[in-house]
Amino acid sequence: MARYAYVNGRYVDHREAHVHIEDRGYQLSDGVYEVVGVRDGRLIDETPHIDRLDRSLRELRIAWPVSRPVLGFILRELMRRNRLRDGLIYMQVTRGVARRDHAFPTGPVKPALVITTQHRKRAEADPGQGVAVKTTPDIRWARCDIKTVALLPNVLAKQAARESGAFEAWMVDSEGRVTEGASTNAWIVTKDDELVTRQTDHGILAGITRHTLKSLASALQLKLVERPFTLAEARKAKEAFITSATSFVTPVVKIDGEPVGDGRVGPTARRLREEYVRFSASGEAVT
Ligand code: PDD
Repeated sequence: MARYAYVNGRYVDHREAHVHIEDRGYQLSDGVYEVVGVRDGRLIDETPHIDRLDRSLRELRIAWPVSRPVLGFILRELMRRNRLRDGLIYMQVTRGVARRDHAFPTGPVKPALVITTQHRKRAEADPGQGVAVKTTPDIRWARCDIKTVALLPNVLAKQAARESGAFEAWMVDSEGRVTEGASTNAWIVTKDDELVTRQTDHGILAGITRHTLKSLASALQLKLVERPFTLAEARKAKEAFITSATSFVTPVVKIDGEPVGDGRVGPTARRLREEYVRFSASGEAVT
């Protein structure tokens, strides 16, 4: 089956898809992106993802490449062509193609839009064995709330994690607080059964999965506190887990080789994963 990518107005064979060498995303990381999970051919949390794309674009003063309804149409058309039932859709908008100069181009430049899909095994409610994380200093810039394609610190963090046998990296700031994962938000469950995740500010990405999970947790009457937590606290926590559009809710059972709690998947992370998987299959929306 041919696999298509959408590139600036055309559906093209994925193997042939390309952008210009002077695309500012390629040369300067001058662009933003979104990753949206797909379940049963439906986008999970489409509206908040597209709202966040809009916010990222506005923060960087990049124009919308197409109107919002047209984007919705293209996403569906690409999913249809690629027969995407379960997986993810990736969309990227860069400031466009211009002669290289750090400042924004002065002439009329069209933002570039690229969309691809990936098939993935449907996420199961059972979390399996959980995953390990490795900690690493957070060396990123001061606007991690913008979902830009400038991901080198995240790339290096994830690579260090993978080389140590861990699934994810947890980035730790200069005060010993865990900010977030390389591509996930970070959570713990304290000894007092409080769910703790860092508040959204310029230090982390406001995860859409994080937002949805807040409502699901509140419906289960779990106590949620949004504040930074330190690595020392995480080491003493009962449970830990990560959230993202691709990992859903994934329990963390080891931090830097040391077990979290008894080193097994705990009841809270297990329950929240079940709830989130149910939500993703339901087509519901959270406010
Ligand atoms: N990553 N924090 C960072 C740094 C991220 O890159 C992501 C998402 C998240 C979780 O956000 P959400 O719940 O909206 O997926 C948190 C995507 C999946 C990626 O880069 O592949």
